[in-house]
Amino acid sequence: MRTQIVIIGGGPSGLLLGQLLHTQGIEAVVLERKTQGYVLSRIRAGVLERGLIGLMEQAGVSDRMHAEGYIHDGTMVGYDGDMFRIDFAEHTGTSVMVYGQTEVTRDLYEARDKAGLQTIYEVEDVVIHDAKSDAPYVTYLKDGQQTRIDCDFIAGCDGFHGVSRKTIPEAQRREYEKVYPFGWLGILSETPPVDDELIYSNSERGFALCSMRNDHLSRYYIQCPVTDSVEAWSDDAFWEELKRRIPQSAADKIVTGPSIEKSIAPLRSFVTEPMRWGRLFLCGDAAHIVPPTGAKGLNTAASDVHYLYNGLKQFYLDGDSDGIDRYSERALGRVWKAERFSWWFSNLMHNYPGQSDFDKKMQLAELAFLRQSPAAQAAMAQNYVGLPY
Ligand code: FAD
Ligand code: DHB
Repeated sequence: MRTQIVIIGGGPSGLLLGQLLHTQGIEAVVLERKTQGYVLSRIRAGVLERGLIGLMEQAGVSDRMHAEGYIHDGTMVGYDGDMFRIDFAEHTGTSVMVYGQTEVTRDLYEARDKAGLQTIYEVEDVVIHDAKSDAPYVTYLKDGQQTRIDCDFIAGCDGFHGVSRKTIPEAQRREYEKVYPFGWLGILSETPPVDDELIYSNSERGFALCSMRNDHLSRYYIQCPVTDSVEAWSDDAFWEELKRRIPQSAADKIVTGPSIEKSIAPLRSFVTEPMRWGRLFLCGDAAHIVPPTGAKGLNTAASDVHYLYNGLKQFYLDGDSDGIDRYSERALGRVWKAERFSWWFSNLMHNYPGQSDFDKKMQLAELAFLRQSPAAQAAMAQNYVGLPY
């Protein structure tokens, strides 16, 4: 088999890239390790930046997102039993959209299937060959049978645990990592959200986040030890703990109910450099991870897609390789800024084991400054809605 681009990974990065390339008549095959149903059952991000919204529009898959997504012009930040608002519209003239990663992925799969584009599910043993040559190819096993796909380029969109990053020899890449000493326990419940906007809350008992998917579906998170197990957290224990970590005015009106999903995610900052090796390009979580505070994971994956799509478009339509040659440098420039914001917001909002009283006072002083300073709020808002591509 032969195609122009082999995309490894049918998560949001791979699907979005495939759909954008399709608008330019560039052919791609997507290889996905799991089934479509499995990918769609993973509950992950919920907040979309302008840039990602624009890419969905360019890809021709934005109708349902615009009809069902919720525009958020600001967010609430809680600390010391009280909360204040940061107005994105006032400070940046723009906003974000609440529309789940699951829905983004569903819309992309639907468009892909409708256009008859090839997605091969449940592939095993994906191997990238000769990425440093002009004739790379990918092999995989499906139902015990090996297939080879020859191609021009490979997009490694296979997430943190995929094969793409590991294909680059260790001596050729540099990895930067910070593992946080806590995780997030998240639940999804069919209850109305506690507020119209998200509430990020710093409390003496640890961080909490009140988010949502729509008017009758809420997403809540609390900081927990990474060693905790989901089974050890009953719904009642979760709600009790959440209420103790958010300002009383919010706790008083929260509507509780049974969880329909519950999971614990570890928190990590990670970047690998460079994001290109010969004809292999890393994209999204395959190249970098942010802690979820600030909702940058999916959005940073999308900015990689933007740079890679435009580079490939320039290559195929204009015969100019400048965009793909500068892909790694351009993508990483923005990745590091998203890393910085997510690291800063995580440090500000969480309780660290062994944190000194002085460190706690520093967090509170910084939160008070954020509350009082329009300049600090503008910087936060600018990063939250997403830096320009
Ligand atoms: P992924 O979504 O990981 O997709 C990669 C795809 O590649 C997967 O479908 C996988 O099955 C497939 N794959 C892997 N290996 C292979 C292989 N060898 N061969 C073929 N296919 C392969 N971000 C936020 O902003 N907010 C959040 O609340 C949030 N919560 C998260 C919770 C969890 C548990 C995780 C893991 C991430 C979360 N993120 C969150 C981050 C966000 O979901 C990711 O940044 C986003 O999914 C990145 O998209 P991606 O397509 O690059 O990678
Ligand atoms: C959600 C997750 C986040 O990490 C975040 O910062 C905001 C929202 C969510 O799942 O809704």
